[in-house]
Amino acid sequence: MKKILALIVCVLMVLGCVSALAEGEKIGVSMPTKDLQRWNQDGDNMKALLEAEGYEVDLQFANNDVNLQVTQIQTMIDNGCAVVVIAAIEGSSLGAVLDAAAEKGVKVIAYDRLLMENPNVDYYATFDNYMVGTVQGNFVKEALDLDNAEGPFTIEFTAGDPGDNNAGFFFNGAFDVLKPYIESGKLVVPSGKTKFEEVATPTWKTDVAQAEAEDRLGSFYADGTELDAWLCSNDSTALGVTNALEANYTGKWPIITGQDCDIQNTKNMIAGKQAMSVFKDTRTLAAQVVKMVGQIIRGEEVDVNDTTTYDNGAKVVPSFLCEPVFASADNYEELLIESGYYTPDQLAD
Ligand code: BGC
Repeated sequence: MKKILALIVCVLMVLGCVSALAEGEKIGVSMPTKDLQRWNQDGDNMKALLEAEGYEVDLQFANNDVNLQVTQIQTMIDNGCAVVVIAAIEGSSLGAVLDAAAEKGVKVIAYDRLLMENPNVDYYATFDNYMVGTVQGNFVKEALDLDNAEGPFTIEFTAGDPGDNNAGFFFNGAFDVLKPYIESGKLVVPSGKTKFEEVATPTWKTDVAQAEAEDRLGSFYADGTELDAWLCSNDSTALGVTNALEANYTGKWPIITGQDCDIQNTKNMIAGKQAMSVFKDTRTLAAQVVKMVGQIIRGEEVDVNDTTTYDNGAKVVPSFLCEPVFASADNYEELLIESGYYTPDQLAD
């Protein structure tokens, strides 16, 4: 009995030491920009959750400026952060600072976007990016009833930033679902743009997507050609396409896809302008990353569920993939309001 008590005391002491260690450890969180709603939420959630665990947090947003992001991460390393969590502006541009982290023994978690071409990336946490694309593609397939309806239907594609490794996964996930129908002629792409490079949106910006959409509408739809669907990889690009359509197109309103459930896009879903979005609850991802940070700090095995998919060009990065969820005007109340993600006020006009 005495031995057991001594053992329990020992275990408690060790646990006490470990949690004392965690307290006060510094964690760096580097987000790409404040321009897009989701990164503000991701950053804020991470900070709140890490602080609740007793960590000191250095949260920085890099204004979509790669050099600024490098400087901010270097400062985190110099200031003694034990782990840095990075959502990169451009996945391949952080090599030198990742090397600097490794030299100092600082662990790196790629957040949402994979860090490319460098072996010093310890873990990756994201939503299943390919699945995001398949959810969008399947939605279009079902909404147009491609297996049964006669067609043909028209569609355009708008993808994301070529500097973001996610963008190809989103596009491929959607395109793989729709490709057979394009090949059979049931889906027609009037602009002829079906390759990722032809439909990519550098920086993911709304105005860039809008300019390209206006161009295509002017060149291929001014003669009255009707559009059935516009597959957009995310909400910021969907907003650009929606703006372009509102100003330059008078035909039947097409199905528009998106991702993120940004506030303006959710309002557009409610108003019937955007057909769907993909909900990636930033609280889920942040909680997973905070769990991984704790496991790293305590020297425990880190929770991953994918060790094959995310090859960054230098290594396959052990990853945890969270599951994205389909969102539309039909389920937004439960998904976004009842879950406390948004207040009704935020979604009111
Ligand atoms: C994220 C998307 C986001 C996009 C633009 C991607 O890396 O996964 O959720 O819409 O970047 O910021």
